[in-house]
Amino acid sequence: MTVFSNKTEIQKHISEKKAKGITFGFVPTMGALHDGHLSLVKEALANNDYCVVSIFVNPTQFDNAEDLKKYPRTLDQDVKLLKTVSKDIIVYAPSVKDIYGDNAKAEHFSFDGLEFEMEGRFRQGHFDGVGTIVKRLFEIVTPNNSYFGEKDFQQLAIIKKLVEKYNIPVIVNGCKIHRETSGLAMSSRNTRLKPNYKIAAPFIYKTLKDAKEKFGTKSANEVTEWVEKQFAKHKLLELEYFIIADIETLKPVKRKSKFKTYRAFIAAYADDIRLIDNLALN
Ligand code: PAF
Repeated sequence: MTVFSNKTEIQKHISEKKAKGITFGFVPTMGALHDGHLSLVKEALANNDYCVVSIFVNPTQFDNAEDLKKYPRTLDQDVKLLKTVSKDIIVYAPSVKDIYGDNAKAEHFSFDGLEFEMEGRFRQGHFDGVGTIVKRLFEIVTPNNSYFGEKDFQQLAIIKKLVEKYNIPVIVNGCKIHRETSGLAMSSRNTRLKPNYKIAAPFIYKTLKDAKEKFGTKSANEVTEWVEKQFAKHKLLELEYFIIADIETLKPVKRKSKFKTYRAFIAAYADDIRLIDNLALN
């Protein structure tokens, strides 16, 4: 397994291999790797000769300096973990300077309105930061395929839009949410949960499942009110939003149509840790 921290070196390494017809899958991450990431890596290895994993805590996608500071950074452990998966993994763990030079600023993007919903309303500039880093990483790594988890469903939709708008020659693959046995969606942030919050957090997925059942007979508004009530009664978790959205536009559903596909989305705080999750409804 090779670890690169310099973009020129990894570019050279990849372009030499690509010239021989070798294919690359790409899993961009911010590190603190868990089984959810590993499932993306395995998917990449099953469909490409090599898997490139980038490990970079991207400063331009954080709207909160404290969150950026506290984000777990565990590079040595991450590299060790990847070694247990396969030797055909290439790690790219750049510095902020290698990516941004002296100007760690996000570009501004239009994602045809997808960026204004949900996470976009609560995390100012977040998707400009994500768009900036993913576009740069795609340019450096030039993968054939890329793999993103559906836990960040809106991010996945935005990256598909980025690739379409900029004609980037990369296939974007969405992969199913990986869950702990408790049902809690795997996230690097889970390592920061205090024990009582860790026990409480699966309530998010349980509520999504209950919402799905109710959506069979009730309106989106009724289900939303019901979910808001469940969280209002909860002692530890604080709901930021619950939205039932059309998966094409990510806009909240007003009136149900049997011709559309919907998903329920939750963002909630467990102490100061922000957790998100979502579930397909039909
Ligand atoms: O999902 C993430 O971990 C990040 O948003 C990504 C895609 C690696 C960009 O920094």
